[in-house]
Amino acid sequence: MIQTVRGVRDILPEETGRWWFLEETARRIFIQYGYRELRTPIFERTELFSRAVGETSDIVEKEMYVFQDRGGDSLCLRPEGTASVVRTFIENSQHRCLPWRVFYMGPMFRYERPQKGRFRQFHQIGCELFGPDGPLADAEMMSMVLRFFREIGIGDAVTLEINSLGCPVCRGPYRERLTAYLESVREVLCANCQRRMVRNPLRVLDCKEEGGSGVLQGAPAMRDHLCHGCEAHFQGLLGHLERLGLPYRINPFMVRGLDYYHRTAFEAVASGLGAQNAVAAGGRYDGLVAEMGGVSTPAVGFAMGMERLLLLLDENKVPVTRPDVYLVVAGEDLVTASGLMLAERLREAGLAVEMHLSGGGMKVQMKHAGRSEARIAVILGEQEVSAGMAAIKQMRTGEQEKIAMDQVVERIRLLLCQHH
Ligand code: HAM
Repeated sequence: MIQTVRGVRDILPEETGRWWFLEETARRIFIQYGYRELRTPIFERTELFSRAVGETSDIVEKEMYVFQDRGGDSLCLRPEGTASVVRTFIENSQHRCLPWRVFYMGPMFRYERPQKGRFRQFHQIGCELFGPDGPLADAEMMSMVLRFFREIGIGDAVTLEINSLGCPVCRGPYRERLTAYLESVREVLCANCQRRMVRNPLRVLDCKEEGGSGVLQGAPAMRDHLCHGCEAHFQGLLGHLERLGLPYRINPFMVRGLDYYHRTAFEAVASGLGAQNAVAAGGRYDGLVAEMGGVSTPAVGFAMGMERLLLLLDENKVPVTRPDVYLVVAGEDLVTASGLMLAERLREAGLAVEMHLSGGGMKVQMKHAGRSEARIAVILGEQEVSAGMAAIKQMRTGEQEKIAMDQVVERIRLLLCQHH
């Protein structure tokens, strides 16, 4: 028996309705804010991510699915979407038509330790906005994310956390201060942090190990060492969030796991998800386009983890998909004579029709009709058909009537309207 790879899952037919609901709600809301969908490849050159996400990030150091193709190029499955969007932006000279707003959705791949809400193939829905450099863009994006959460019924379960990660002007001096502090408490840091401290000291602030977290509370925070420009940006953002009436919490120790962020960073965290509590995360990456060889362009974006959203989703909001009609036909001859034709006519009229294909008596077929949750069963018995009629049964009330064959479509439409 060959099974799925560890950390990878099938999405079964009974689950896909929820996925559609998330995807459709996201599409509708993002379009309201001027975003259009971009679809990028699932694999890219490895170098794209090592440069964009950062050589010292966990993702690049140990989580990428890297392989060599037959031509000897090093490729990888995308671990996230932003680097690809930036590549597309540069490759298609989009700096000529700013602002550029795009959204994307699809699978991402990271070799992480699987646990609740954490998979090796997972799915993101994300947005990226290129052009505006002010905090208004950041605030609009957060407001869009929170609108999305409200629409899918998880508004109350999620808290917006924000921070500023500074810019190259202020981050250098801050890094030095932080490193000095970390040196002074070195013995109590976990082994991993002692190593990270040298290559990427900011990541130490994100340490989840018990021993380290207490002492990290005393570490200098980026927030207190912002340059004038970064401080003004952050204050501007707070002002916009307040005007929009969006609740937020400043988290001075949020550092994000990807290296491209400048200034604003944000996460939407949910209680009840355990350790993997970030349902959405993002921020500003004003330096990335230039770093990747494009015309310097500020940008901001975020991505949401669909598996985590699904853990929180309000099931009542998800529309149920079920057939409008279940077609019950007595005997195989009748199926070929009248059943097939009627089913096609009903589908032509836009209805979802499930036809009984596997024989069995009327009783068995009616049982299947009930299980299908169709609103209406159309029954073609010997008698009905020879009289040019069909029986229509409303499954909820049990009411049954006989209708002339050529009026069946109209009658069913009317009944379905009344149901809604
Ligand atoms: P990220 O924080 O690495 O950011 O991922 C964003 C979201 O994807 C997380 O908050 C989480 O919900 C989900 N996620 C990440 N890893 C996993 C996993 N192994 N299993 C399940 N869900 C996961 C980014 O990827 C950035 N590209 C976001 C961004 C866009 N920043 C600017 N623009």
